[in-house]
Amino acid sequence: MTFIVKILFIGDISGRSGRKLIKQILPQIKSKYKPDLVIANCENAAGGLGVTREILNELTAYGIDFFTSGDHVWYIKDFVPELHDVSLPIVRPYNYEKTEKLPGSGYRVLDLGKEGKLMVVNLLGQSFMRDHARSPFWTMDELLEQYQDQKDLNILVDFHAETTAEKLCLAGYLKDRVSAVLGTHTHVATADARLIGNTAYVTDVGMVGPLNASLWIKWENAIHNFKFPFKMPPMIEEEGEMVFNSVLLELEKGKAKSIKRVDNIQTF
Ligand SMILES: [Fe+2]
Ligand SMILES: [Fe+2]
Repeated sequence: MTFIVKILFIGDISGRSGRKLIKQILPQIKSKYKPDLVIANCENAAGGLGVTREILNELTAYGIDFFTSGDHVWYIKDFVPELHDVSLPIVRPYNYEKTEKLPGSGYRVLDLGKEGKLMVVNLLGQSFMRDHARSPFWTMDELLEQYQDQKDLNILVDFHAETTAEKLCLAGYLKDRVSAVLGTHTHVATADARLIGNTAYVTDVGMVGPLNASLWIKWENAIHNFKFPFKMPPMIEEEGEMVFNSVLLELEKGKAKSIKRVDNIQTF
């Protein structure tokens, strides 16, 4: 009897073009790799900034089971109160305070049947981030202490952070204590997916969205904002090459067995 769970984790889905690519490509990827569970970061799924209940439903219909997020999850004001609904398949970074104004949960334990359970945790970095969240190091200590008697629990951490050093250090800190530390937020896929002890790691999974842009913002607007003090609004690039970045994980009783990149490029 095998207890291996195969998880496809997809980087930040960005805007309409990102969603279009998910619709187009996810069925093929699922039939090729046969993941038991598909998780995606959705913080940029609505026009590049934030997410809505309708878009979560849309992405669920395309085959995604659960969502992580990040600093942009608060961007659409009408969506924030929806985070009170615990039936929504989404977590927001755990290390934001939990208050009436900052609803939602930072982790969820999913029942995978014979493959056991998976805890999905979302954390925000502190280095070069606009928001000031609590230390991801200390908060993970507190969280893991609550679950220390569940030795076989698979634990996947989406660490939504800017710097390589902070991501690597959290991975080193959580080595053999969680099953995976997967970086998101920079939208740039890194080539360092590997096992660190029993913990799968990648500095950044990447994104699903426009390749020829700055993150997902049209170059014209992004470049203007580097040159001039008066800013242009971020416009999402909807044409050209679109990139799909993800990693495929195999976890067994809390330990990572493998991690590999699954990437693709399509032209719209
Ligand atoms: Fe993002
Ligand atoms: Fe972000």
